[in-house]
Amino acid sequence: MNKVTNNKSEILPEDLRIAIEKWAKKYPAERRQSAVLPALTLAQDYNGGYLSQDLIDAVADFLRMSRVTAYEVATFYSLYELKPIGRHKIGVCTNISCLLSGCDKIVKHLQHRLQVKWGETTPDKKFILREVECLGACANAPVVHIGQRYYEDLTPEKLDKILDHLDGK
Ligand code: FES
Repeated sequence: MNKVTNNKSEILPEDLRIAIEKWAKKYPAERRQSAVLPALTLAQDYNGGYLSQDLIDAVADFLRMSRVTAYEVATFYSLYELKPIGRHKIGVCTNISCLLSGCDKIVKHLQHRLQVKWGETTPDKKFILREVECLGACANAPVVHIGQRYYEDLTPEKLDKILDHLDGK
């Protein structure tokens, strides 16, 4: 696929438009803005993991919806990033089941290993650490997601193996 550029006329390259259009077509023509969530997700993936204002505006224009509404969506959901972040987004669930299953050990281990606090990106830009709400996998707590993938029944040792692999060790 072509890379997203800063040129407003080219900000949504054709292959990205085609991908977004597939989602828009799932809705009646007058409701194509209903595809805003997958459209922003596609645009974000395309742009290396974050949404710029120009990109949000371009998605809104393409879906023929208000730019302000698209911006509200992008700022409401935690899955959207508005500035560059670490390549691997680590989300640690700290809700009740994970708390009762020892997520505090996972949090301490991650913060120590990566030397970051909540919301921070490692200096090498490989990882960003986020606290997240229930991931819906409570039966297998503690749970962490890294990008789109869930890791369940975690221990610090299991986590080290996963991070070693992502780190290329
Ligand atoms: S409480 Fe952690 S996955 Fe539900």
